[in-house]
Amino acid sequence: MKSLSIFLLTTCTMLTGCVSYREGQNVDLYTEIGGKETLSKVYGLALTRIYNDPVIGHYFEGVPKNDLRRELTEQTCELIGGPCDYEGKSMLEAHKDLSIKDSEFFLLVEYVQQAMRDIGLTYQQENRILSHLAPVKNEVVYH
Ligand code: HEM
Repeated sequence: MKSLSIFLLTTCTMLTGCVSYREGQNVDLYTEIGGKETLSKVYGLALTRIYNDPVIGHYFEGVPKNDLRRELTEQTCELIGGPCDYEGKSMLEAHKDLSIKDSEFFLLVEYVQQAMRDIGLTYQQENRILSHLAPVKNEVVYH
């Protein structure tokens, strides 16, 4: 049994398609969180709250929620290394006329963070996803 384990471990280490054998440590983030289905749930929940927020809700008046949910899901999927190809507007283009403040950016991110927690992602998964979203700030916030 032990030699079988060692054989599997060695083979798995050599084959990139077999990463899940080592108790998840090498599974890519996208697969680990449950892929697009999970991201779509996160954004579904976060956007409902964001659209109703007294401070930032007004930005989204007239923006179809399901379209934005789809674009965000696709973009985050791509950013975290998933098999997606975001074809929406650039972040500069999408946010350039909105004059979004720093504090408003952080408020939106908090909603996304809260939704990730509510869906059941771990603190570590949450932070790994956020580290890919954080660089977007420069293109979203008004300077
Ligand atoms: C991590 C931060 C953010 C990310 C990743 C992000 C991402 C996106 C994406 C992917 C779109 C869709 C672009 C398209 O339709 O092709 C979008 C649109 C939009 N975002 Fe953001 N966004 C962020 C922060 C914010 C913040 C802080 C606000 C406002 C408080 C905001 C307001 C909007 C609005 C109003 C639209 C719709 C623009 C339109 O349809 O013309 N976003 N965003």
